[in-house]
Amino acid sequence: PERGGHKSLTDVMEKALSIYRDCLEGASGEIARRYLIKRDLPKEWWSHFEIGWAPPAWDYLWRALSKAGIPAKAVIECGLVVEGSRGLYDRFRGRVIFPVRDVTGRLVGFGGRSLSGEGAKYINTPEGPLFHKGSCLYLLNLAKDAIRERGRAILVEGYMDAIRLHMAGFREAVASLGTALTEEQGKLLKRFTNSCYVCYDADSAGREASIRGMYILQALGLQVNIVSLPPDRDPDEFLQEKGSKAFEDLLKKSLPLPLYHIKIREDLLNDLNLRKKVVEELIEGLSRIDLPDLAPFIPQIAAKLGMPRHALEDELL
Ligand code: CTP
Ligand code: MN
Ligand code: MN
Ligand code: MN
Ligand code: MN
Repeated sequence: PERGGHKSLTDVMEKALSIYRDCLEGASGEIARRYLIKRDLPKEWWSHFEIGWAPPAWDYLWRALSKAGIPAKAVIECGLVVEGSRGLYDRFRGRVIFPVRDVTGRLVGFGGRSLSGEGAKYINTPEGPLFHKGSCLYLLNLAKDAIRERGRAILVEGYMDAIRLHMAGFREAVASLGTALTEEQGKLLKRFTNSCYVCYDADSAGREASIRGMYILQALGLQVNIVSLPPDRDPDEFLQEKGSKAFEDLLKKSLPLPLYHIKIREDLLNDLNLRKKVVEELIEGLSRIDLPDLAPFIPQIAAKLGMPRHALEDELL
């Protein structure tokens, strides 16, 4: 408690989470329970991931919180309710709720997945006094010990990707909550490991984000490997289709940053009109890596770029 007996914003968030979790068990949660089970996220895991349900009503949460004596100001500051012209209404309605905790376990935000296909598939708590999307890694509080023990982190995009990996025993997985990895998220990871496996969705957004993200991580001193999923798959779908042994094989087949960057641009390298620009992009990226770290890959890179080794080394200095 702070400010003379008033509940802190974190207490308000915890109260909201407990309401959302009750709703998943209640009558209005039927549709969410069916959805989760159909997605192979069975009941046994709901409490582990503290999954909840925001009912579709306009102001279910706001009524419940205000009945509990929580002032509108605090609920608005938490980003849980929105001020409309006709009064206050809940931000999350008709959505499965994923709580986001910071590295210490403090509840800082929520993600909500729509079941109806209406509106954005996911919405998150807006940026505010508690929540800064760019400084959280989803499930890091549950993953940090495994990351330390196993000497690696696995970085994915989405809520369900991180959850699925944990369910499959890869408790070193965290999600960046989208493709816009920040330096702050990278620094958080660096506190626990020197090695990160990036496993973003195998679509064009995910591939471009892998390139951006991997250089952010490598600039912070992490060893970076990039995992390639089959076209248009994400880690959740892959694990459901193929299982954890197949995922472990993908990790083994992952490429270190320099080789991934070249592989992803291979088609463009073979296009005479684009080749020059792509070589420039590759050299620009690779020159950010210390030469000793790059040394093992120089022969392969030189061959792919069609450059003599020493010419390449000169370019990279
Ligand atoms: N995301 C978001 N807002 C959106 C879309 C995505 O915050 N409108 C974030 C979410 O954290 C989401 C992640 O980006 O989990 C990955 O997005 P996407 O691949 O589109 O969704 P999935 O996680 O694959 O969604 P699902 O498996 O539930 O269909
Ligand atoms: Mn702040
Ligand atoms: Mn995607
Ligand atoms: Mn998915
Ligand atoms: Mn996805």
